[in-house]
Amino acid sequence: MIITRAQLNNYRSYASCELAPCEGVNVLLGDNGQGKTNVLEALYVCCTGRSHRTRQDRELIRWGEDFASVKVEAQRRDGSHEVEILMPAMGRRRIKIAGQEISRSGELMGHVTGVLFSPEDLRTVKDGPAERRRFVDMALSQIKPAYYYALQRYARALKQRNEALKAVAAQPAFMATLDAWDEQLATAGAELMRHRRAYVEQLSRTASETHRDIADGREKLEIRYLPSVTMGDDAQSNLEALFGARENDVRRMTTTVGAHRDDVQILVEGRDVRAFGSQGQQRTAALSMRLSELDVMREQLGEWPMLMLDDVMSELDPGRRRQLVSHLKGIQTFITCTDAEDLAGAEVGRTWRVENGALREA
Ligand SMILES: Nc1ncnc2c1ncn2[C@@H]1O[C@H](COP(=O)(O)OP(=O)(O)OP(=O)(O)O)[C@@H](O)[C@H]1O
Ligand SMILES: [Mg+2]
Repeated sequence: MIITRAQLNNYRSYASCELAPCEGVNVLLGDNGQGKTNVLEALYVCCTGRSHRTRQDRELIRWGEDFASVKVEAQRRDGSHEVEILMPAMGRRRIKIAGQEISRSGELMGHVTGVLFSPEDLRTVKDGPAERRRFVDMALSQIKPAYYYALQRYARALKQRNEALKAVAAQPAFMATLDAWDEQLATAGAELMRHRRAYVEQLSRTASETHRDIADGREKLEIRYLPSVTMGDDAQSNLEALFGARENDVRRMTTTVGAHRDDVQILVEGRDVRAFGSQGQQRTAALSMRLSELDVMREQLGEWPMLMLDDVMSELDPGRRRQLVSHLKGIQTFITCTDAEDLAGAEVGRTWRVENGALREA
């Protein structure tokens, strides 16, 4: 998949900007705070419907304006795809696919596909389980709309069950109201678990190879799925786990077991990199995970998604930089950097200078 055109209007620091990327390596070059990440973020929003930096559309709208939009045109093997996201300051955002407004946000997924590696990714490795679930959720949602919908059903059921738990805590006679939510949570939860297990296994296989390349064969990387429900990935096991946790959940007034408590463990040389990895090892592990996400997406979609590398080059030593660059063959890539020296001899197709919220092709 190749992005052929992108148009930003009142998006962050941009009043209006348009770019026609090449199918190889595209570079956004500029000093700090000039608007490089803003461009990648806009492309990413067209892939996933979400910014990697905020959940608030309001923040994406240029200060003082009341409306922002992003439009991306992509060329895929099956033809051209166009995604447009319209974000008003007041009211609901609207999404158009090929000019037609869609009614369910999940219909956005899979038209423009991409993987973003950003400095925030270190959090996937370093922070708590929520960051790793987010990694898996965002990756799976792009390749499997069914997963995205299961995620929505799960979140809704979880919210309802937690409400019900509060009601039961105040009035134990309401206990039976939990049955219906347990049922829905168990069904959606089992679906999430099955997809997550398969995905993490595939990711781990790919990541161990990718990591060997990037880390010069020095380290072994493994990724493991750690489900909250350990009895099994089926709805019955989920249901039993929920039932077993009921008393405790009523006391705590929150659901303590289920897919929203899953984790993914990242091991380097058999040790949890979160606890024992050096800063450099953690960074390389995070990069390997993103590059593997890219590989898995290619296997699933039958073509490469695009790749966005935000501020990555300056963080890597020259050897790893070269390995990364050799990974980019045949993949449309967007790289941001402050110094062209950091590109480690990558074959650059197009370069833009980013200055004060404006792009100028160099
Ligand atoms: N909603 C907004 N409206 C206008 N300007 C914004 C908005 N949100 C962020 N900005 C501006 O965008 C700039 C940040 O852009 P961005 O994060 O893309 O910079 P960058 O070039 O990636 O910098 P760095 O090299 O430090 O990562 C900031 O200067 C900020 O003032
Ligand atoms: Mg940036």
